[in-house]
Amino acid sequence: MIGLYFSGTGNSKFCVERLVNNVDSNAKIISIEDCNAIYEIIQADCIYISYPVQYSNIPKILFDFINDNSMIWKNKKVFIIATMGLFSGDGSGMLARLLKYHGAIILGGIHIKMPDSICDEKVLKHSNEVNHLTIQKALTKISETVLRIKNNKYPQVGLSFGSRCLGLFGQRLYFKSKTKTYSNKLKINDNCIGCGLCAKNCPMHNIEMLNHKAISKQQCTMCYRCINECPKQAITLLGKKVVQQNKIENIL
Ligand SMILES: Cc1cc2nc3c(=O)[nH]c(=O)nc-3n(C[C@H](O)[C@H](O)[C@H](O)COP(=O)(O)O)c2cc1C
Ligand code: SF4
Ligand code: SF4
Repeated sequence: MIGLYFSGTGNSKFCVERLVNNVDSNAKIISIEDCNAIYEIIQADCIYISYPVQYSNIPKILFDFINDNSMIWKNKKVFIIATMGLFSGDGSGMLARLLKYHGAIILGGIHIKMPDSICDEKVLKHSNEVNHLTIQKALTKISETVLRIKNNKYPQVGLSFGSRCLGLFGQRLYFKSKTKTYSNKLKINDNCIGCGLCAKNCPMHNIEMLNHKAISKQQCTMCYRCINECPKQAITLLGKKVVQQNKIENIL
């Protein structure tokens, strides 16, 4: 058994680590960004996959990773952990259907509410207390899930037909185009001091340093990692101004 994740700001990594470590303390936990990920997936019989929901959909980087390696999922037993800031009808269902198409056996799935990674939209800002409480509730949910799994009663959140309708009519119908391609909306302003942190950490290698300034190649998977990390708050995507940088290490 392994834990696998894609995580922009740490929430999905945090959740899969907590869950998998309590189900099997010997299980490896690995990012899809790791060059050994494909090897580890091939070796594993059971995979717990965690990722951030984007508009009730899968981040493009994860979608491409799964399709580009379509041969490795056959007969793998998969449990899905979809993390989200607010709500998703079928965040786990989207990944379940894709993996099932490639031959995986879906054991179940859960939705876990975590602090919102979108940090340049005022309406999504929460106080530190609220974010702490959100994480506490997530930990409780993870403990309950571990118990259920140990009793062979895998939760099936987001996998039903009703959830699919909720995801479709609640979000995807209006926002589907946003995750269909990589985004060209990343903006880097003049506050950039050329530290290179964003370029170093971007999972898409989307940011290039040119004359000590960061430049976006406009192939962004909207993970919000660079936006939450930039020491000068110089990067935005959906909003115009960074209001609160809150990757998980800053909250814990
Ligand atoms: C582009 C984008 C779209 C998002 N869409 C949703 C959404 O539809 N519903 C929701 O509840 N959270 C949404 N979120 C919030 C993230 O799913 C959530 O904060 C997640 O836990 C981040 O995980 P990570 O730290 O592993 O990247 C979105 C975040 C981003 C960056
Ligand atoms: S992290 Fe911010 S300051 Fe550093 S290079 Fe990137 S945009 Fe510029
Ligand atoms: S440019 Fe920033 S938000 Fe876009 S994929 Fe890279 S790290 Fe994530």
